Amino acid sequence: MILGILGVGHLATSMLTGLLRSGLDPAAILLSPRGKAAELAARHGFGLAADNGDLVRRAGIVLLAVRPADAPDAVAALPWRDGQVVVSVCAGVPLSRLAVAPARAVRAMPLTASEIGASPTVCFPHIEEARALLDRLGPAIALASEADFEVATVSAAVYGWAQDLIRGAAEWSAGAGLDPETARRLTALTFVAAGRQIAENGAPMDRLLQELVTPGGITERGLQVLAARGVPGAWEEACAAVLDMLTRQAPGN
Ligand SMILES: NC(=O)c1ccc[n+]([C@@H]2O[C@H](COP(=O)([O-])OP(=O)(O)OC[C@H]3O[C@@H](n4cnc5c(N)ncnc54)[C@H](OP(=O)(O)O)[C@@H]3O)[C@@H](O)[C@H]2O)c1
Repeated sequence: MILGILGVGHLATSMLTGLLRSGLDPAAILLSPRGKAAELAARHGFGLAADNGDLVRRAGIVLLAVRPADAPDAVAALPWRDGQVVVSVCAGVPLSRLAVAPARAVRAMPLTASEIGASPTVCFPHIEEARALLDRLGPAIALASEADFEVATVSAAVYGWAQDLIRGAAEWSAGAGLDPETARRLTALTFVAAGRQIAENGAPMDRLLQELVTPGGITERGLQVLAARGVPGAWEEACAAVLDMLTRQAPGN
């Protein structure tokens, strides 16, 4: 089955890297002719569609990866057919804005870690063809409702905030004298370790934290400073602001 990519920008490039890494045949991938499409087709051997109509006619599954405001117009009046699946990764664009009938639409929220096969990708509704595609990029996580999907999409922003925290912590360590490459590697792997410990150990998160916060110790000291500066409250406020944006934003604004 041909996979069509409608919108070949930053995220599509990460996903294409991950799909190639997973062993997908580049000849089975067809790109819409804008953005980075020509360059990627020449480099990797992907097909290049004449236009979006040609893409939809030839593909069995279509990944929609245009900017949110462009999504409703990009899918309008294309020759969608029964049995086709459209996977939209456009943040904040509800299924009701995607006129792809009689094709079925799925929303998904991959991270750029797709390129290394490490994206936990939420999706709704559960359609097996979409799930199989997303599983090539890391663990796909099917959700029960579109409301759940919006809440889960906040995690895509948290991913960026985590990268910013890693950058800040690594720069602090380098500024304090650590070799910059060592600081970068150590900080990044420390975040990986924290995430994996919670993902792979079923114990309550409070208990896991309690086990590592020695009274009077260094972790406790730092948490006190962060709490005194209002960091936990600011974090909650940032999450709520993103959810508000996702549920309120009308594409085009
Ligand atoms: N970046 C991320 O990490 C990330 C993560 C999760 C989800 N997303 C979602 O992914 C989507 C794309 O984000 P991005 O960062 O990859 O944006 P981007 O780099 O701006 O890529 C969007 C691409 O879509 C093309 N495009 C727009 N309208 C088109 C049309 N009608 N037909 C064909 N191509 C069209 C644009 O081409 P032109 O340059 O010619 O306009 C551009 O190349 C967004 O909806 C975003 O919410 C992104």
